[in-house]
Amino acid sequence: MEKFIIAGGQQLDGKLKVHGAKNAALPILAASLVAGHSTIHNCPNLTDVDAACRILTHLGAKALRHGDAVTVEPEGEGICYIPEELMHRMRSSIVFLGAVIARCGRARISMPGGCELGPRPIDLHLAALERLGVEITEDHGFLDCQVHGRLHGAQISLPFPSVGATENVLIAASLAQGETILKNAAREPEIADLIEFLNEAGAKINLTPQGDLHIKGVKYLGEVEHRVIPDRIAAATYLCAVAAAGGKIELEDVCSEHLSAVLPYFEEMGCRLTIKPDSIQMAREGILHPLEQVRTMPYPGFPTDAQSPLMAAACVAEGTSIFIENIFESRYKHVPELCRMGADIKAEGRVAVVRGVPALHSAKVFCTDLRGGAAIAVGALAAEGNTELLSIEHIDRGYENFEGNLQALGARIKRVPCPDSIHY
Ligand code: UD1
Repeated sequence: MEKFIIAGGQQLDGKLKVHGAKNAALPILAASLVAGHSTIHNCPNLTDVDAACRILTHLGAKALRHGDAVTVEPEGEGICYIPEELMHRMRSSIVFLGAVIARCGRARISMPGGCELGPRPIDLHLAALERLGVEITEDHGFLDCQVHGRLHGAQISLPFPSVGATENVLIAASLAQGETILKNAAREPEIADLIEFLNEAGAKINLTPQGDLHIKGVKYLGEVEHRVIPDRIAAATYLCAVAAAGGKIELEDVCSEHLSAVLPYFEEMGCRLTIKPDSIQMAREGILHPLEQVRTMPYPGFPTDAQSPLMAAACVAEGTSIFIENIFESRYKHVPELCRMGADIKAEGRVAVVRGVPALHSAKVFCTDLRGGAAIAVGALAAEGNTELLSIEHIDRGYENFEGNLQALGARIKRVPCPDSIHY
């Protein structure tokens, strides 16, 4: 176990390259199970990516890292069972289900448990896979999935544009017999990246002007070389750090278009931005203004993953900000930790009211989840004194070299061993 010690109150200043997107790399790694030899560049070095590679290895593929790339070579017939231990290591492992079924014609996985964002049901994944011809039974906490013959195309309309369900349909339907039409699909940039990967491997996926996905099934997917898009949430987090602590930052290797719902909030807070297609400069010099209302929505709306880091910055704004969380039921677990640092936040149901305070102070705090953990680090960078941040394994799931990047901006943050820490 390790922890961060963060000596806050230091303005940040510097340049950062944004790493590849975790949420794009994970479904692409799952899809690589049904492609030929895959080379995935800009694949971030994260514990969630390691967990995905471990699942691939268990399923009979060779997954190897070479610098910023991961190569995947699926071998033999493959294994259709993912053990519980591997399923639990990575919360988004459900995205392997479509790939395993497409590869083996069956799959057995443990039901993913609840997670730190509240219950994370998979009913939309299962209903969509059933439409493609998968027979699913539940057996003592396990899901048994079976296809008689080949997966077949279908008309599917998602009641909610679930990111993971869209990914499972894209992967499975790419190898189904016939055409699948997916309505109300998620439109996140990470979905577009998965489609690009699959099409580069020989899939036939089209996005209609109405926003439907048409997937013409093919028999095989071939060799593919792909570069993962930049991580828009990591980019947003570093911008939040500068908004909270003050100073300036230049982000490189970023896709500004993917952040078009996020950047206006920094302007509303009084930060100065210079936006180019693949770089963003931002400076916060004076006071931070509050945010009238931040509502999380599916893309192209404001991303739920950026809600907690932005809230951490709003804690030190001059005035009251309102947040409305529309995607996950329980996404305010970072609130009590920020309050321990002196933040004034009242959260009830979907709404959080943040009354800005002149300064946060140091405390012993815990990462409650990946983005919540990053938010608490953002708060600590703006706080007076030395904050002890525990359970940082959450942050390592989604941020490559988090403390190194912040140190490069002049932050005083260090990772130290924490042998007896409580696991949150
Ligand atoms: C993905 C992202 C996560 C992000 C989220 C929303 C990855 C690895 N993770 O998660 O970082 O916060 O999108 O942008 O890409 N739901 C159901 N039934 C289902 C599926 C989902 O009710 O079968 C609900 C969920 O409980 C949640 C909402 O739909 O309330 C959104 O979930 P979804 O879009 O599926 O998110 P994930 O794919 O889990």
